[in-house]
Amino acid sequence: MTLSQMPDWDRRAFLGFLAASPLAGGLPEVARTILAAPPQQQRALITEAGQALEVMDFEPVAREKLPPAHWGYIATGVDNEDTLRANREGFQRFALRARRLIDVSKVDMSTTIFGQQFDSPIFICPTGSNKLAHPLGEIAVSRAAKTKNSLQMLSTVATTSIEDAIAARGAPVWYQLYPPRDWEACKKMVKRAEAAGSPVLVITADLNPGSDRITLERGKLADTRKCETCHETSRGGSGGGTGDMKRKPMFDGLGPDMLPYTYPSVTWDLIQKLRDTVKMKLVVKGLATREDAELSLKHGLDGIHVSNHGGRADDGGRSSIESLPEIVAAVNGKIPVLFDSGVRRGTDVVKALALGANAVGIGRPYLWALAAFGQPGVEKVIDLLRAETLTAMRHIGATSVKGIPKSAVVAAGRS
Ligand code: GLV
Repeated sequence: MTLSQMPDWDRRAFLGFLAASPLAGGLPEVARTILAAPPQQQRALITEAGQALEVMDFEPVAREKLPPAHWGYIATGVDNEDTLRANREGFQRFALRARRLIDVSKVDMSTTIFGQQFDSPIFICPTGSNKLAHPLGEIAVSRAAKTKNSLQMLSTVATTSIEDAIAARGAPVWYQLYPPRDWEACKKMVKRAEAAGSPVLVITADLNPGSDRITLERGKLADTRKCETCHETSRGGSGGGTGDMKRKPMFDGLGPDMLPYTYPSVTWDLIQKLRDTVKMKLVVKGLATREDAELSLKHGLDGIHVSNHGGRADDGGRSSIESLPEIVAAVNGKIPVLFDSGVRRGTDVVKALALGANAVGIGRPYLWALAAFGQPGVEKVIDLLRAETLTAMRHIGATSVKGIPKSAVVAAGRS
């Protein structure tokens, strides 16, 4: 076997051994280069969306294409990034139980939430400022969501309006809200989303205490461009920061006093005020505990979105998937439970579904793909995750999403 035929892992181990040995001086240049690169870059960069074998293939391409500040925005966690890492590691704490000799030739992945039917349980999470990744931004994402009939949530801090996103999606898009401090501004925002046809308001609750995004700040420092050239202000924009209203059409017509767009005094009282203001379904995003799930039921929420903001909110170090079981237990089937944070594989999707989620969201993977190849990239990410989910469902013997049994998942290391 030659060096280039070795699997990534073996090659790294072999090169690591060589580097540490007295032979290192004689290491070929190519081997030195491979060894110096971070693991993701040890594969050749893909040059078109169709070449991707897994969603991680898009990450190094996005990193290569994006300016450091924009890459930093997508990549960032908070503080030590313990929660960011935990989100991936958390999935390893659960294992799927394979079932055999079941006819799984036909698998129905369709998923209905609040009466809307989608082709799969995998949905597009709200992410800010998609035009930092691609000139079409959220429009390209909405078009991909349309071709794949996928649920899409649009962020308050999107660089596309809810009206334009719904037009591009050709169907209702859910609206994610960072409730502004000023209630009049908040009312205008949610009424605008409702008038545009958005059926569900997803109120994000996890950024209110603030978030210290060091990777983002380092990206900005490494960027030689002047942020002010495109952005109204270069300050903040990092969860609780001041943001940039000019590039965010959902702030149109609202005063500058509504910034920062997250603030720490939001309470459950807001839910009743929103309930009295719009007829949309109300979902709170960013919940991680049974206590908050119980309060969600008490306050009449229509759904819960379990999330730690992809590790961009608190750095407490608990993975989102480990929060899911206690929330599902508290909700006891009364309202839908959506889930996100750290999803990169079909097996992640199926673990979350088996643990009781009704649908499973992705964020960074579609942003990498958007940055890399625009709409075809986003479509490919959805295709890859759907194909992996289909295979994982077949292995557990499930032929429908609703048919995924609780017994399909166990704590890893236990029988
Ligand atoms: C959301 O807007 C984020 O920056 O995480």
